[in-house]
Amino acid sequence: MDTATTPATAVILVAAGSGQRLGYGMPKARVPLGGEPILMHALRGIVASGVASQVCVALPEGDGVLRALCDDFRTELVDGGPLLTLVDGGASRADSVRAAMAVLEPGTQAVLVHDAARALTPESVFQRVVEALAAGAKAVIPVIPVVDTVKTVQPTTGDGAAIAPELVTGTAHRETLRAVQTPQGFDLATLRRAHEGAAGFDASEAAAVTDDAMLVERLGVPVHAVRGASQSLKITTPLDLIIAEGLLEGPLGVRWVEG
Ligand code: CTP
Ligand code: MG
Repeated sequence: MDTATTPATAVILVAAGSGQRLGYGMPKARVPLGGEPILMHALRGIVASGVASQVCVALPEGDGVLRALCDDFRTELVDGGPLLTLVDGGASRADSVRAAMAVLEPGTQAVLVHDAARALTPESVFQRVVEALAAGAKAVIPVIPVVDTVKTVQPTTGDGAAIAPELVTGTAHRETLRAVQTPQGFDLATLRRAHEGAAGFDASEAAAVTDDAMLVERLGVPVHAVRGASQSLKITTPLDLIIAEGLLEGPLGVRWVEG
């Protein structure tokens, strides 16, 4: 795509989480994948996609290791590459997004918010999101089909790990369901307005904000879905890390696995 004619697009890379579920005892962005920290895979993918005029990385507060990695990476960026900005993340993912939005360059029109935990997102997904924004959408999310049958229950734990049986209350129509990924793309003014609406949330409301698009939906702004990719999985649990390692080591290489 011709990025020279597209409006200034920033990518916010949220990498400030602690990685509790991965259980490595270190922030997830630092955990090695194919011999390199997860953060580096995510950064390289963004730069390779060619969509970003600025990449703003939200890091765990005071994490000198990740900051130094980013500073080294900055020296690898060629002339005409994106500006790399670092910011301390916040207590919640939404806080990290807000911290990053506060330091975007003047003139930025579009923003993509991407999870560092989705370290293997192919370039084509970034490009599809940006193309949909350029075509006039104010909010765009990459999605993939849901393979499991999905039921609603009366939850006892909130995370599906109940020991006692839970009562099933219904079955969702799978053809109307999509699993949602990042990068999620927005008109910047729309994303700012969406996050202002969430600034007064209490702790439990804030914990329920699992993506940015749901805040935009609350404004009544249409959100459009484009095709994501299965290798864009969010590395959350040890099993996900095994899968990501397998994708990197596969005979064809991760960039060919799309679908
Ligand atoms: N994230 C962030 N700031 C936070 C929490 C999360 O920037 N306060 C980022 C994570 O670094 C990750 C993305 O949001 O790239 C998605 O979050 P998740 O997969 O939940 O990562 P963690 O919060 O690190 O993992 P866990 O919930 O298991 O602790
Ligand atoms: Mg988390």
